[in-house]
Amino acid sequence: MTAYRWLIRPALFRLGGGNPEAAHEWTLSRLEQLSRHPRLLAALRRWHAPGETASTVFGVRFPSPVGLAAGMDKDGRALRAWPALGFGFTEVGTVTWRPQPGNPRPRLFRLPASEAIVNWMGFNNHGAAALAARLKTLGPLPTPLGISLGKSKLTPLENAVDDYVASLRVLYPHGDYFAINVSSPNTPGLRWLQDRAQFAELIGALRLEARALAGDRPPKPLLVKVAPDLAESAIGGLLQVCQEGGVAGVIATNTTIGRDGIAAAEAGLVSEAGGLSGRPLTLRALQVVRFIHRETGGALPIVGVGGILEVDDALRMLDAGASLLQLYSGMIYRGPGLVRGINRALARRAVGNGPAGVSASGGNS
Ligand SMILES: Cc1cc2nc3c(=O)[nH]c(=O)nc-3n(C[C@H](O)[C@H](O)[C@H](O)COP(=O)(O)O)c2cc1C
Repeated sequence: MTAYRWLIRPALFRLGGGNPEAAHEWTLSRLEQLSRHPRLLAALRRWHAPGETASTVFGVRFPSPVGLAAGMDKDGRALRAWPALGFGFTEVGTVTWRPQPGNPRPRLFRLPASEAIVNWMGFNNHGAAALAARLKTLGPLPTPLGISLGKSKLTPLENAVDDYVASLRVLYPHGDYFAINVSSPNTPGLRWLQDRAQFAELIGALRLEARALAGDRPPKPLLVKVAPDLAESAIGGLLQVCQEGGVAGVIATNTTIGRDGIAAAEAGLVSEAGGLSGRPLTLRALQVVRFIHRETGGALPIVGVGGILEVDDALRMLDAGASLLQLYSGMIYRGPGLVRGINRALARRAVGNGPAGVSASGGNS
């Protein structure tokens, strides 16, 4: 991690005059180029090989439980590069039915002293049909692919269900699981879909569509991504709907609208709008994962995400009941060495515990 921290990260953070979105775009373009070099990819994969960390969760085999969180590669531009950096799965999106530019810039802010990010990107993406076309030409990928679905900004909330269903329909052949994003703070009204009645209608419609698309086979897993800002009673209500509606797992959590945990020197730099991620989210995300695990008796697999910046954060998330993990801010502040470090720690654990090492942390099916 040292080379990343002292050499690569400072250079990335200076790109575009310190513009975080320029650094993001530059990195994604380089990874996109890398994706076209099979030999380099193979060499990197050997270096980052996860070791004995495979597990099966909601019927999908993951070579490592460490995944790339939604939002980093929304349009699936570098899908062969992420596995080469040690990730055991990639979640693309959030994509929406209509292509959309997202919110006006600047919309991405780094808070290095707080090891945090604030974003109000607003689901900038090329749309579900464009992603489907790209995935079709890419062919099979080395690790499972999750696809995160959201509501187009221009679609009125009362038509949200049709919007999600249309995206699911066009993307269904290409994903190994689908994440229903009702928890981004950056699309007006989206979190309203976390209200129990709306949520039940959305889940019911997506489940029905997945069944129809699956034909004779079992439908592909649908997961739900929740906000960290919900009260436990509200999360409990969502979990009931999830369990009644055949949801395969929960992703906890999205970014927070809270502003706790920001270093004093950076407090004045933070706008009211946008979702906060990284270190200030660590504890809350862990609490939500622990609550979901307890509330469901471990029956609903959990993807733990939020403020994983150290190997120990990852281990704590697994001990709290997560079966899989995802990183976003940790990749920005610690780089791919973090993925490697977590994978190595898990491989050591697995050797210590026998082959059930990862599964023993709960929730796997
Ligand atoms: C710039 C940025 C864009 C994001 N976009 C999405 C998104 O499109 N869909 C989504 O479900 N989560 C999105 N997220 C949230 C992350 O997937 C993750 O849940 C959150 O950042 C907490 O994890 P972290 O602390 O490791 O960053 C985004 C996060 C960031 C920082």
